[in-house]
Amino acid sequence: MYKLPVLSYLFQDLEPYIDTHTMGLHYHKHEQNYLNKLNELLDKNNFDYRYDIDELFYHIDEFNESDRVDIIYNLGGVLNHNLYWKSMSPNRILPSGKLKEDIDKKYGNIDNFFLEFKNKAMSLKGSGYTFLVVTDEGSLDVINLSNQELPQSFGFIPLFNMDMWEHAYYLNYKNEKGNYIDNFLMIADFANANKLYNSLMN
Ligand SMILES: [Fe+2]
Repeated sequence: MYKLPVLSYLFQDLEPYIDTHTMGLHYHKHEQNYLNKLNELLDKNNFDYRYDIDELFYHIDEFNESDRVDIIYNLGGVLNHNLYWKSMSPNRILPSGKLKEDIDKKYGNIDNFFLEFKNKAMSLKGSGYTFLVVTDEGSLDVINLSNQELPQSFGFIPLFNMDMWEHAYYLNYKNEKGNYIDNFLMIADFANANKLYNSLMN
């Protein structure tokens, strides 16, 4: 069975930007629920868990056709949350190296990039995520996807994301979506994105 990821920080470490109660519910209820459903579907397919969960998407053809849509949806619920946990931390880490270079080329500077990221997130209708991705053409882009859609389904590689489902912020921020985004960006951690982008571009 796949398991929830081990986080590099405690839920309370993200206070006051993300409150402890929201983090606990988000991890133990919301992500756990996707994980349980994913494991159930995989067990039903007699899967032996031989792939790393990050690789599973690329082996979807090995499962019953009638289960594939549900497997991808619940896998999205797990992978998108796993990336979100990595995209923030108590120690803000900004884009650096090759990633900073290419962000500067495309958006001018990091502040403009954050503004673009916020504006994109504000324009998302309903539930979903805002992602920084590497597109199938090898360029950086900021995109919105609905619900638990995976960038991988479009041939993109996700580097960084922000959960824009109401459960990510509503307890603390109510309908003040913009405040949630501003505060999330204060704890944004690009360490994972920096590393991944370097390995993809070299
Ligand atoms: Fe979520």
